[in-house]
Amino acid sequence: MISKRMESALNEQINKEMFSAFLYMSMSADCADKGLKGSSVWFMTQYHEEMVHAMKIYEYIQKQGAKVRLVALEEPQQEFASLSDMFDKTLEHEKLVTSSINDLMNLAVEERDHATQAFLNWYVTEQVEEEDTAMDIIQRIKLIGDNSSGLYMLDKELGARTVSVPTDFSTGVESAMGGE
Ligand code: FEO
Repeated sequence: MISKRMESALNEQINKEMFSAFLYMSMSADCADKGLKGSSVWFMTQYHEEMVHAMKIYEYIQKQGAKVRLVALEEPQQEFASLSDMFDKTLEHEKLVTSSINDLMNLAVEERDHATQAFLNWYVTEQVEEEDTAMDIIQRIKLIGDNSSGLYMLDKELGARTVSVPTDFSTGVESAMGGE
């Protein structure tokens, strides 16, 4: 059982995770438009990760006997100045998500909701990873500077990223993740 307040806050987080997916899909499209094929793959892979973040909450709300309520997504930015701009915005966005997860955790602590605290621990760890990955790529883009062959190599490397999360949620995301 979760409180009505927690149910509503978790539903808001679904929207934030789905907006993250939408934002990275938009970045993927803009990369493809700019000829950055590898980076386009990287952002589409990130899209799938974000959908899992949303679906885990979706499933958790249902497991707690509460109601999933989906609302409209904000329109994401469509065009970005450069790959550097995209990763700067990725980091900025992930920091917002981290702060939102922290708010959720604070609410769970305040409500002495131990189950939701245990559930949110996964997100706390995941956000450290998300910010670290974005910071790492930003640093590399800075090192490359205006070197076009460096950018070409980085784009190629980013394109090697593969989807390691489930993409079919028809039988539930947790079971598809092996009961994680
Ligand atoms: Fe689901 Fe990238 O935060």
